[in-house]
Amino acid sequence: MNVQIFDTYSELSQRAADIVADLIQRLENPVLGLPTGGTPEGFYAALVRRQAEFDRLTTFNLDEYVGLPKEHAQSYYSYMKARLFDYLPLQPQRIHLPNGEATDAEAECHRYEEAIRAAGGIDLMILGLGHNGHIGFNEPGTPWESRTRRVSLAEVTRQANARFFASHEEVPKEALTMGIGTILEARQIIVLASGESKAQIIHRTLVGEPSLAVPATALRGHGNVTFLIDRAAAALLEPVVEI
Ligand code: PGA
Repeated sequence: MNVQIFDTYSELSQRAADIVADLIQRLENPVLGLPTGGTPEGFYAALVRRQAEFDRLTTFNLDEYVGLPKEHAQSYYSYMKARLFDYLPLQPQRIHLPNGEATDAEAECHRYEEAIRAAGGIDLMILGLGHNGHIGFNEPGTPWESRTRRVSLAEVTRQANARFFASHEEVPKEALTMGIGTILEARQIIVLASGESKAQIIHRTLVGEPSLAVPATALRGHGNVTFLIDRAAAALLEPVVEI
């Protein structure tokens, strides 16, 4: 496991964008897994300033809320459109998010897994990290072999995401998310974490005992994971981890 610590959030974000630009240069049909949330915003801002052959890129978002229309300002589709899709020459048929409005969620999740498989699997999965260690919307207790499915959001997650909504009540209670098993099949994984509020979960993820209680510890069994974190998120770590 590789841990890279940056002085600033901006440097961390630039590094993530460099890695994606490099992937696009190296691979003929690069397939990227993408997160939402506050942390990757700098990464997306950096990526739209890069020169790369984005039309060859295929993307799969990690998750989408259930019960929000696609056009809702806080849907993850709208998030991605506002930060990335509107700015890059991506081919619409190569952009994928789970459809949170699907009437048959199970069939939709199956379709999503099939689409990932048909694209040849995910080359690079970029993840944020929840305060409770969730990756995607895989909350504590999620089996590590889990696949894309409909899930309930932990209350702490709804509280964390309430900052994007007019009120806490408006935060959806469910989502469709890639499973931990789906995420672990990516050939390379990058985790982004920034700020002192993430210091504790970064420490638990990297140094604590792997446990179902901290979903991100599942990443410790993956052979190609890099954590890009800033000094604030690394605050509890530096005496322990060799860089
Ligand atoms: P955040 O969310 O980037 O908004 O902190 C991370 C996550 O919940 O995965």
